[in-house]
Amino acid sequence: MTSAAQDHEQQVFPPSAEFAATANAGPELQAAADADRLAFWDTQAQRLDWATPWSEVLDWSDAPVAKWFVGGTLNVAYNCVDRHVLAGNGDRVAIHFEGEPGDTRSLTYNDLLAEVSRAANTFTDLGLVPGDRVAIYMPMIPEAIVSMLACARLGLTHSVVFAGFSSAALRSRVDDAEAKLVITVDGQWRRGQAAPLKPAADEAVHGAASVEHVLVVKRAGIDVDWTEGRDLWWHETVEKASPEHTPQAFDAEHPLYILYTSGTTGKPKGIIHTSGGYLTQASYTHHYVFDHKPGEDVYWCTADIGWVTGHTYIVYGPLSNGATQVVYEGTPNAPTEHRHFEIIEKYGVSIYYTAPTLIRTFMKWGREIPDAHDLSSIRLLGSVGEPINPEAWRWYREVIGAGSAPIVDTWWQTETGAIMISPLPGITATKPGAAMAPLPGISAKIVDDEANSLGKGGNGYLVLDEPWPAMLRGIWGDPQRYRETYWSRYEDQGWYFAGDGARYDEDGALWVLGRVDDVMNISGHRISTSEVESALVSHPKVAEAAVVGAADETTGQGIVAFVILREGAENTGDALVKELRDHVAVEISPIAKPRQLMVVPELPKTRSGKIMRRLLRDVAEGRELGDTSTLVDPKVFDAIRGK
Ligand code: WT7
Repeated sequence: MTSAAQDHEQQVFPPSAEFAATANAGPELQAAADADRLAFWDTQAQRLDWATPWSEVLDWSDAPVAKWFVGGTLNVAYNCVDRHVLAGNGDRVAIHFEGEPGDTRSLTYNDLLAEVSRAANTFTDLGLVPGDRVAIYMPMIPEAIVSMLACARLGLTHSVVFAGFSSAALRSRVDDAEAKLVITVDGQWRRGQAAPLKPAADEAVHGAASVEHVLVVKRAGIDVDWTEGRDLWWHETVEKASPEHTPQAFDAEHPLYILYTSGTTGKPKGIIHTSGGYLTQASYTHHYVFDHKPGEDVYWCTADIGWVTGHTYIVYGPLSNGATQVVYEGTPNAPTEHRHFEIIEKYGVSIYYTAPTLIRTFMKWGREIPDAHDLSSIRLLGSVGEPINPEAWRWYREVIGAGSAPIVDTWWQTETGAIMISPLPGITATKPGAAMAPLPGISAKIVDDEANSLGKGGNGYLVLDEPWPAMLRGIWGDPQRYRETYWSRYEDQGWYFAGDGARYDEDGALWVLGRVDDVMNISGHRISTSEVESALVSHPKVAEAAVVGAADETTGQGIVAFVILREGAENTGDALVKELRDHVAVEISPIAKPRQLMVVPELPKTRSGKIMRRLLRDVAEGRELGDTSTLVDPKVFDAIRGK
């Protein structure tokens, strides 16, 4: 390592005495977890209201499928809504909704209870019963959150599909989970335009055997095609339903949701999360990592509910803790680059949680934009989705956090369900760019190929060596893939392989370095190389494709694709490149569109036929080629470089 990098690592930001004095976390938290980890989680689970107590904290006898809080029953929606009303906080705002066109709406916990109850009554009228799956394909509007909570209330398992995904992506998720109900909108607001969404839902649902109904929220006020008997308007059903609904308790291990994420093969995996353990860790982490004070803080997580961050840190974590939060529908530059800062100022946001890619975008736009606003309400900043580079970290703290707000760099995954590695504000002295340490109750190691634990200065693979309450319980419909993907690498040890590289510095601070597999991280979105490759080869002109993630200043990584055309396919230059990029947008999503696409005569392969992505990454990032000794024909690069 260079000495400049070492200097970086020596810079430490200890918590201020002022912050520490009122912080939710104290040193006793780690001490309790160290003394007895399962007793610690037993205590944390008591943050929730249970209908039946559990008899055992953890049953790991069927590893790697855990059972947490065995025999306990609870209702997740009751914990996120009803109990705050019953505690006398019904008038507290749960959601300050800020629509992209400027419309606003505030929902109190009383309002939320009525809405969720109405939706639950409607879903029941549609014949849905506990265990049924519901697909939610919606932008960031309150009805999306209401839909998720209504599912939770009824024991329906939701599968939220990001509204930026294509109809093909929605269809494969609807089919995989055999969803009976799809909830969507007529259209969504994007940069001042009403963009239709129902047509994509219609296309996805056409011929989908499991789907009985499509429930449609009128959001953009645009015309839609209608299938009588199948389609229902939200305002004609939910809004007319009774606002009274008595929740029933479900087992702690009842499946709460499925969320699809990219793995190293083409087909997205449906990650399964259950109820009691998940909500326990969501609530615990939201309380301590964000130092959240109900009734005082205004919290804003800028994620979309289409990703796990939205599930855990917009819906289940904050609502279980009775938070008041901002939900914003649109993009950060609609109508201008001031939008986020206007919102912070308007609502007095005190906790702001976003992704490094957006921080770098703000940096590019210039500090005069945030400087034009009163951001003094901010007292804590969070980062998630990819490693945050030290420059962005410093800028975030200095410009958005007035040089004093603690930053929590939170490492976790769709699979972990909740934050695993993060500083604790008020306790941890942070370093710009480091996620620092596992939270109390969480156990992680950095190990080498032979499962040796690495200490200070060690650089290796991040593993989770003990089960945790919010851990995934499997992959929907594919238990074998669950074992292979996460548990086979360190089978003898019984460790969860996270897929990330990590290191401890000389002070023992943990730095997450990024994926070590074929998963790319584009603006914090997880996309697998093979998923994009499959999309490309599904185009009639493409014979073969190789995709790599190349370093990108703003988005972390950018997608670079190399394709070989089929015999006889005409290379029409820019037109072809556009056609292929658009094809990926249709097959997956615009976020998966390659930044750069090169038509090449050959791809570099090993003797066993494996594409050497490492070398393609060298090409994409304009580096000297690394070791080419295992390549069949090193000359292929002359042809590729000739492009
Ligand atoms: C992957 C998980 C967790 C919600 C958003 C992404 C990367 C995530 C960090 C961080 C370094 C991070 C990892 C991880 N990642 N947070 N703070 N520092 N890397 O969830 O789509 O499941 O992606 O995101 O590579 O494995 P996801």
